[in-house]
Amino acid sequence: MSESYSLWESLDTELQDRAKAGLLRSVATWSPISARLIQSPDGRKLIHFGSNDYLSLSWHPRVLCAAASSSSGRYGAGASPLLTGHTEAHESLRRHLAELERTEQTLLFSSGFAANVGVVSSLAGKDDLLFSDRLNHASLIDGCRLSRARTFVFPHGDVDELRRLVSTHRGSGRRAFVVTDSVFSMDGDLAPVRAYENLAEQYDLGLIVDEAHATGVYGERGAGLLEENQCHSDRWIKIGTLSKAIGCSGGFVAGPSCLINYLENAARSFVYSTSMPIGNCLSAIASVELLSGMANERKSLREASISLRQRLQKIGHRVGGGDSPIVSIYSPSVSEVVAWSRRLLESGFYVPAIRPPTVPLDGCLLRVSLNSSHTQTDLDGLVEACRF
Ligand SMILES: Cc1ncc(COP(=O)(O)O)c(C=O)c1O
Repeated sequence: MSESYSLWESLDTELQDRAKAGLLRSVATWSPISARLIQSPDGRKLIHFGSNDYLSLSWHPRVLCAAASSSSGRYGAGASPLLTGHTEAHESLRRHLAELERTEQTLLFSSGFAANVGVVSSLAGKDDLLFSDRLNHASLIDGCRLSRARTFVFPHGDVDELRRLVSTHRGSGRRAFVVTDSVFSMDGDLAPVRAYENLAEQYDLGLIVDEAHATGVYGERGAGLLEENQCHSDRWIKIGTLSKAIGCSGGFVAGPSCLINYLENAARSFVYSTSMPIGNCLSAIASVELLSGMANERKSLREASISLRQRLQKIGHRVGGGDSPIVSIYSPSVSEVVAWSRRLLESGFYVPAIRPPTVPLDGCLLRVSLNSSHTQTDLDGLVEACRF
């Protein structure tokens, strides 16, 4: 009789270790009811503070109908973009995004994750330098690793330390880039993008920015944090996702034609992956068309997030900075943050507990995501329920 395969045993041991540390995770089946409400796996109706659908666009009738309006009569694209997977719907979405971002061109990826990995790993190589914020999204971190470039991780948002690293090392690299989220996905605070722009001019740096949580939410027309801060340098390589405020799925990069032509040839997560579904492109176009008319929703979200931060601070919580719809409530430990999330669930609110490896061990937090469908009563109730 053969002995059991040792790999399965070692995986089991690793899972048990994670469970002992309170870090085991698994998928559960949730049923969305509306942008505001969700039904938990055990059938409870909860106020939903765990979605990135900040403008509730994934529920918008125009966005829903657009997916079914494909004149080619099909949903999926059927092939990668350099073969036959790039259709008129994809081209039209590219044009809409270029107009939103005010760049010459854009390129579509199957997800925001694929866009980040593809851009960073194809622009930088072993002779180059990457300066990466400590709290960047996992996909930017993986892009840095795949690139084989020398990577310096700087303390979160710390411009002085970044300047020190850049001034010490810039001379030793061919190309050099600052790599950052614009709105940080877990802490909800904002990158000092104007300061990075100045540094880039001084030290000849490229600027790779992931606007995943800023697209739709910031800027007069909803283009993101760079638009909000009037950052117009031609050094920006803007990455976005269609999966958050746009309410669909897929990623994109915006920049000059030479950048896009290069990525079309060199970004492996673009070249070797099926194009996003045609129906998804049509829905994303409808969303992008709606964005510029949603300045009131952006303003209300901003006001709600500032007010919620202040009220949570007043009752003794340490909360994340900035004014994004991601309001983080810091907790001293894994066990405490899990207990807080469970108590909120019992009070009728879904707010996810964020633990390592998503955040560092000293950065456990409740991540409250606001969206345009929440009511004042929802927010009042949440604050009351947060009196732990
Ligand atoms: C900051 C950030 N970048 C990129 C991604 C990945 O985007 P997508 O979900 O479209 O793959 C996410 C989302 O999970 C994110 O939070």
